[in-house]
Amino acid sequence: MVEPVGDRWQPLEVNTRNGTLLELVKPTERGTRDLVADVMDARQMQFMHVPAFTEASAATAFLNGMLVEPGMSFNWLLHHEGATAGWACLFAFEHDMCELGYFVRSHYAGRGFATAAAWRVTHFAHTVLDVRRLNASADPRNVASHRVLASSGFTHEGTQRANFRYGSAWQDTALFGRLRTDPLPDISPEHNT
Ligand SMILES: CC(C)(COP(=O)(O)OP(=O)(O)OC[C@H]1O[C@@H](n2cnc3c(N)ncnc32)[C@H](O)[C@@H]1OP(=O)(O)O)[C@@H](O)C(=O)NCCC(=O)NCCS
Repeated sequence: MVEPVGDRWQPLEVNTRNGTLLELVKPTERGTRDLVADVMDARQMQFMHVPAFTEASAATAFLNGMLVEPGMSFNWLLHHEGATAGWACLFAFEHDMCELGYFVRSHYAGRGFATAAAWRVTHFAHTVLDVRRLNASADPRNVASHRVLASSGFTHEGTQRANFRYGSAWQDTALFGRLRTDPLPDISPEHNT
């Protein structure tokens, strides 16, 4: 059982496929303020597990509760040139497994940020936390997220039908997994060593 507590968290760095440096830093209340408008944006939140927030206070509480307050998860803010570009997290630790999550602000979309961060955090989980299996779930319509997971060495393992309620509708969930023993993805710098 992995114990996700303070001294195992580390700041991380990764280069995107275009060579852009992303820094993965400790979330602070000040940093999460940059994300409030994004979690109030219905388009950005259309495939998340919660609908877009309508009140800034609720959005702030959600972000701080998920990313800043101490808990059993590892969280990072993605920084590009000192600005907040999104977040990445590892949560739901159980039996040497955990789940991967990520969010990239629309202003930074399409630049490989999610792919780079997802793989960096996945690699950290396998090598530093000794996580045997990572899970990830995505809305079946979230094609960009499916590409992020495929590029990070995850396999699409199935789809759970109508397993969670989003607003008034029941939604399916596409399930992905990656084992520590799976081949390194092409984007890994260690791939050819
Ligand atoms: C989905 C999300 C993480 C993608 O982040 P991103 O930084 O733009 O992703 P990347 O630049 O790394 O691109 C990933 C891939 O998706 C593709 N892509 C991007 N937008 C796409 C779209 N609208 N339709 C299809 N593919 C798309 C890119 O071409 C790229 O494919 P490639 O690796 O084959 O070239 C980001 O849009 C986001 O955070 N959205 C809101 C929250 C969310 O959905 N989080 C994930 C929950 S599972």
